[in-house]
Amino acid sequence: MDKLVVRGGKPLTGSLTVSGSKNTALPLMSAALLTDGPVALSNIPDLKDIHTFRRVIEVTGTTVDHSPATHSMTLDASTLERAEAPYELVKRMRASFYMLGALLGRMGRARVSLPGGCAWGPRPVDLHIQGMKALGATIDLDQGYVVAEAPGGRLAGGRVTLEPSSVGATINIALAASLASGSSVIENAAIEPDVVHFCEMLEAMGARLNGIGTRTLEIEGVDRLNPVSFKNCPDRIEMGTFMIAAAIAGVPDQPVHILGGRTDHLGDAFIEAFERTGTGLTVEEDRVIVTAPEELRPVSIKTEIYPGFPTDLQAQWTILMARCSGNSKVHETVYPDRFKHIPELQRMGVNAIIVGDEVMIEGGKSFQGTNVMSTDLRASVSLVLAGMVAEGETHVLRVYHLDRGYERLEEKLSNAGIDIERVSYDEWADPN
Ligand code: EPZ
Repeated sequence: MDKLVVRGGKPLTGSLTVSGSKNTALPLMSAALLTDGPVALSNIPDLKDIHTFRRVIEVTGTTVDHSPATHSMTLDASTLERAEAPYELVKRMRASFYMLGALLGRMGRARVSLPGGCAWGPRPVDLHIQGMKALGATIDLDQGYVVAEAPGGRLAGGRVTLEPSSVGATINIALAASLASGSSVIENAAIEPDVVHFCEMLEAMGARLNGIGTRTLEIEGVDRLNPVSFKNCPDRIEMGTFMIAAAIAGVPDQPVHILGGRTDHLGDAFIEAFERTGTGLTVEEDRVIVTAPEELRPVSIKTEIYPGFPTDLQAQWTILMARCSGNSKVHETVYPDRFKHIPELQRMGVNAIIVGDEVMIEGGKSFQGTNVMSTDLRASVSLVLAGMVAEGETHVLRVYHLDRGYERLEEKLSNAGIDIERVSYDEWADPN
């Protein structure tokens, strides 16, 4: 098993490059199942979740030619024959549940394992199921699997209202609706950039959508969709993570350049809060330039669906707030209890306490490096950020969580001046 060893105190300088978006690549890969020819995707990040999903897709008989080094992937679902997604793979990555919409849309049937929960709690899929039923599918539960059938082999289409708005349900229902015989409407649809970019790929394949990027997404089913070549967008959460890293570990007279990202994908709430900390942000054509201030100002935030403050940047923001002299609050409204990083940060001396669905942070104190345990993807990257500015050495254990969503993070940070290295270790070895 691997850990990341971070020796704190080194300034972040130079540049960081943002990889392709994990949460967009997964729906783009799903869309490839809707056509019977080669779909060439580019800017696909080399992440554990991408490798996992590739294996899920290959179970169906679809061929996947993946070149991680060139961030490209060609999927050919002309040989798709098995409408299944097995538990052994779905349990590793919840977005595998997109197979339900893709297989129902393409094959008129699907047998997909229910995804488990995750480190911070249950991750329901009731809205996904509600949506498939609204499109005309019959749904049974059989030994932990969702067994779905479209009467007559093809979904009819229908109307569904999502409450709460859901990224995954919007994507899953759109996958199924695109090849339905009739029209569908998704009310209170998610409008995250991941969803918009995925809808743009469906359109490029010949799908008929109206209202992309609005809360009312209309889909007129078509008889077939065509193979395309399509480029994935950059990862907005990695972008936000790097901006926060530059704010806490940068030095005022050496601005950090972040290449390849898109600030407009972060939503206004994050950008406004980020600038209110006093951190300098200059947006140019191919980069953003982040200048750490002499003193960071505390800014309380509340996570909300897009264009609100992204919940996937909540843990990282807590580290930024802990570096400010002053008090602040981080209010999580999307997921209950997405705070598994807090006890680990408390071990480093971060003064943060959980009160209900909020974290109260008293900033300005120094942190001490120590052994800390990753619990989930965004919690683990917040521990790396804390280690970058802690006194001494921080060992971030079980870094497989981090490898799900950050490509070569230690290499990128090391090339920007941070003292960080990947080390393998035996988690069960007795202390010497
Ligand atoms: C996507 O998850 C992302 N994952 C998450 O990123 C992200 O945190 C989340 O959207 C919110 O932005 C991927 O895109 C692969 P939701 P998703 O359905 O689709 C409730 C990361 O770190 N809900 O928008 O699962 C749900 O409990 C990951 O990259 C239902 O009640 O999120 C939550 O409270 C973590 N019933 C809210 O909706 C449902 O059927 C939003 O969840 C579905 C969701």
